[in-house]
Amino acid sequence: MEELGTNKYKIIHGDALQVLAEVEDYSVDLIFADPPYNIGKNFAGCLDKWDTDEHYLQWCYKWLDLCVKKLKRTGSFYVMTSTQFMPYFDIFLRDRINIMSRIAWYYDSSGVQAKNYFGSMYEPILFCVKDKEHYTFNAEDIMVEAKTGAKRKLIDYRKNPPQPYSTKKVPGNVWEFARVRYRMDEYENHPTQKPIALLDRIIRASSNVGDLVLDPFSGSFTTAYVAKELGRRCIGIELQDEYIKIGLRRLGLADEYKGEVLHAAEKSYRHEEPAEQLCINFKTL
Ligand SMILES: C[S@@+](CC[C@H](N)C(=O)[O-])C[C@H]1O[C@@H](n2cnc3c(N)ncnc32)[C@H](O)[C@@H]1O
Repeated sequence: MEELGTNKYKIIHGDALQVLAEVEDYSVDLIFADPPYNIGKNFAGCLDKWDTDEHYLQWCYKWLDLCVKKLKRTGSFYVMTSTQFMPYFDIFLRDRINIMSRIAWYYDSSGVQAKNYFGSMYEPILFCVKDKEHYTFNAEDIMVEAKTGAKRKLIDYRKNPPQPYSTKKVPGNVWEFARVRYRMDEYENHPTQKPIALLDRIIRASSNVGDLVLDPFSGSFTTAYVAKELGRRCIGIELQDEYIKIGLRRLGLADEYKGEVLHAAEKSYRHEEPAEQLCINFKTL
């Protein structure tokens, strides 16, 4: 386990289970967890595939429990996984935390166009809070256009006196954000990079300036990057050297790592090609 960065913006190179165990209980305001989905992605040479679904779930249940333990009483937890495993997360978490929203992050097209079934166009996100009566939700900071009110300029005659419909509203639970693609400004060389806009909404809604945001599976460090931009503190955990380098550069925490100068991502369509030798970290519990 190696700690990098500063106290305010911390990057921890290590295994999420071990690192989370060391984090102080009840200390984190917001956790965003976007783990391997057990669908065979290649994370810098590590295959995101467990030998059985049950082993994947057993591993997930351990870090899900730790995340709940580390949250402050007023804290919020957002968690993602593939559509096929989210029902298990949902049932597991129901007994431990309050699930406030089941969000679908929807995008316009998937890379592979399904021909014999209905292709996947969304990824599920659970939004949970520890205490339903006391949690941060900055509705005013995440308002979107209310189409009826803004476009059709309708008057609400149920109100006395009648008033124009509101032009803004809190987003519903279907969120449309484009996936991060090659040539986009924010693109990094990571196979499952989440968009800045997605984390921007989550961090603005569920934390305040100065709060601590933690991401146990940081990948390209989108969460930490957005948290820093929004004046929050952050802890980003990640297993792979390659992605630690992205985090250090993206957060402006270092110009070099282990003697290597950190350059901007080399843009390549080939980033999901399988590595010659895959390690087996994910196959063992
Ligand atoms: C789905 S990706 C996260 C993507 C990230 N949200 C982003 O925006 O780039 C999951 C990440 O978890 C990392 N990972 C896998 N197992 C891990 C573990 N046991 N501890 C810490 N990180 C791990 C992988 O290397 C991968 O980068």
